[in-house]
Amino acid sequence: MKKVIGILTSGGDSPGMNAAVRAVVRTALYYGHKVYGIYKGYHGMIHGYIKELTSRDVGGIINKGGTILFTARSKEFLTKEGRKKAYENLKSYGINALVVIGGDGSFRGLYDLITEFKIQGIGVPGTIDNDLYGTDYTIGFDTAVNTALDAIDKIRDTATSHTRLFIVEVMGRHAGYIAAYTGIGGGAEDILIPETITDIEKVCKKLEEGHKKGKKSSILVVAEGDEAGGAFEIKKKIEKYVDWEVRVTVLGHIQRGGSPTALDRYIATRMGYEAVLAIRRGETNKMVGIVNNKPVLTPLKDTWTKKKPIDKVLPKLVEIMAT
Ligand code: F6P
Repeated sequence: MKKVIGILTSGGDSPGMNAAVRAVVRTALYYGHKVYGIYKGYHGMIHGYIKELTSRDVGGIINKGGTILFTARSKEFLTKEGRKKAYENLKSYGINALVVIGGDGSFRGLYDLITEFKIQGIGVPGTIDNDLYGTDYTIGFDTAVNTALDAIDKIRDTATSHTRLFIVEVMGRHAGYIAAYTGIGGGAEDILIPETITDIEKVCKKLEEGHKKGKKSSILVVAEGDEAGGAFEIKKKIEKYVDWEVRVTVLGHIQRGGSPTALDRYIATRMGYEAVLAIRRGETNKMVGIVNNKPVLTPLKDTWTKKKPIDKVLPKLVEIMAT
C-alpha cells in the first residue's frame, strides 16, 4: 500500500525538531511517498490544520530552533471523541501513517490513536528532558545543556567576583539529565536531581568545606523536578545553615530555544530517516531511538512506563570534581 505520511510536532518544543521534520519529509519523498504536515500537534489534527509538504517547504530549517509545524498540548485529544475527529480528518486526506515528534505525552496520544483506529504510527523522541526509555539521547537535550552551560559560565564570573553561592535551576520535570550534564560541564559544586534524595544539611557541609579550602564561589545546579523543591525553596532551606550571600537564577524556557547543536542536528536527521524506513517496513506503535550509536525501535508504551535510570557515576563525578 502506498504510504501517505502525516507528520507533527507535539508537546514542549525542542531544538532539532525542524531537522527531524526535514529528514522525514525528504526521506519520504525520496522513496515516493506523499507527506502532509499537521500543524499545532494533535490540536491541528482535530481541527484539520493539514497541508501537503514538499522538499522546498523544509529548506533552510535545519539550523532553526522551535518547530515550523508549531506545537500544542491538546486536552481534546485526551478524549476518545477528540481522537475520532482527528482520525476522520486523517482519513479524508488519505493519511495512513504518522510520525509524531515529541515526548511521553505525545507518545501516549499516538498509542491511543493507533490502538483505537486503523493507522500506523512511529514516534521520534523530541524533548529537552532526555527522559525517554529506549534512546540514549532525545532531540534537543544537547542544545539545552549547552545553553544552560553558557549561562553557568557567565554566572560563575559574577559569583566569583562577589564570593557568592548561586543556585541555578534548570528544566527537567521528572529527570535530572540536564542538571547532571550541565553540572559536570560547568564545574558545579553539587547537583540536586529527582533521581537521588537531597540532603540539604549534607550539601551545606560540602559547601562549607569548599569555602574553607579557598573556593571563591559555589554553584548548585537544581533540576526543577527535585523532590526538595525548586531553586527558591532550596535557597530558603540552605540559608538556615550558611550565612553567605545566596542568589537564584531560574533558566526556564531559554533552554528550549536556539539553533540546534551538531549532535542534535545529526540525531534528528538520523531518527527522522529511520522513522520513515520503519514505516516502509510496516512497523508501528514504536519509537525510534539511538542506543550506542545504532538505531533501535522500542514499543511506544515502554518509552514512558520503563525508567531510564541516570548513570550513578554522574553524581560521583560532580562530587570528585568539586573537591
Ligand atoms: O518537557 C519539556 C519541558 O521543557 C520540561 O522540562 C518543563 O517542565 C516543561 O516542558 C515546561 O512546559 P511548558 O512549556 O508547557 O511550561
